[in-house]
Amino acid sequence: MDVFLDKIHKMHSIEHYRTGFIAYLESHTIVQEPKNLYEPVAYILGLGGKRLRPILTLMATEIFGADYKKALDAALAIEVFHNFSLVHDDIMDDAPLRRGNQTVHEKWDINTGILSGDVMLISAYRLFENYEGETFRDLAKLFGKTAIEVCEGQQYDVDFETRNDVGIPEYLKMIEYKTAVLVGAALKMGGIVAKASETDQNSIYEFGRNLGIAFQLKDDFLDAFGDPKTFGKQIGGDIIANKKTYLYLKALEQATEKQARELAHLFSIQPKEPESKVLMVQEIFTGSGVVESTQKAIQQYTQNAYDVLENLQISDAKKEALREFGDGLMSREV
Ligand code: IPE
Ligand code: IPE
Ligand code: MG
Ligand code: MG
Ligand code: MG
Repeated sequence: MDVFLDKIHKMHSIEHYRTGFIAYLESHTIVQEPKNLYEPVAYILGLGGKRLRPILTLMATEIFGADYKKALDAALAIEVFHNFSLVHDDIMDDAPLRRGNQTVHEKWDINTGILSGDVMLISAYRLFENYEGETFRDLAKLFGKTAIEVCEGQQYDVDFETRNDVGIPEYLKMIEYKTAVLVGAALKMGGIVAKASETDQNSIYEFGRNLGIAFQLKDDFLDAFGDPKTFGKQIGGDIIANKKTYLYLKALEQATEKQARELAHLFSIQPKEPESKVLMVQEIFTGSGVVESTQKAIQQYTQNAYDVLENLQISDAKKEALREFGDGLMSREV
């Protein structure tokens, strides 16, 4: 079957990549001593999640004509790095819930979250040792650059909590760094493993970068308006932490002057019992039409991503597979 697929250059289904990746991940999560270091690693990696980034790495590898199995270590590196970033992010955001379960620092403690996160970051990097020569060098270079940018994005995100002069261009730069570059890198790693041309590698990165911006916009939207049962994170977490999200910044633009003043005030306080603050902010968001504006921005960045696909030297069926993936992200509730 695989031989036949290769001949006609058809892609596997997204589910096929997910299942293949999870099997590989499970065979690589071993709890060794000291347990208090490795159990939280197995815990967070075992909580599931959508596995978007590794799926993209595997898809891109096949899109550029190589066997996706060659990219399993790169895909695992990306997912382990992503999970490291979530463990530290949940400490920084004081988040109680992740994937419908307790966050690592809630279940254990902050020090455990820091060190188990550290070991994941280093383990991710070590997975590139399974590649040779130029492939190793290119993967390690891209990973290093991307990981630094994620840290920069995370710092901006935290800095913005206490600033009241953040603009939309700055916000977009922040989410590009904290989220979108990793989506771009996940795809480009597939291109590196498959030895795609530099032009194609850069185009697939651009596709991912735009899709990643749309993805974070949707994440911000779901943080305020998602269904707690499916979203798996605390609804209103960004509001409680005074995160300067697209919804907040657009609401300041679109609300009445009185409401904008009220909103700015609500984002300068940290009440011990934040329920009523969350409700008031949600109401201002809805009343000022930011639900629609955010939806539009998500569509815009997804479309930007699809436009980039035109530059790629790949079959229409492969472009369609990437669009199908993008459509899934846009309409997600998780
Ligand atoms: C969460 O990423 C962090 C963001 C960049 C928004 P995902 O939504 O991909 O998280 P999981 O891995 O599916 O849980
Ligand atoms: C996540 O941003 C970015 C990284 C983890 C690098 P968020 O803070 O919005 O992610 P969630 O919503 O907690 O998953
Ligand atoms: Mg967070
Ligand atoms: Mg965060
Ligand atoms: Mg979020």
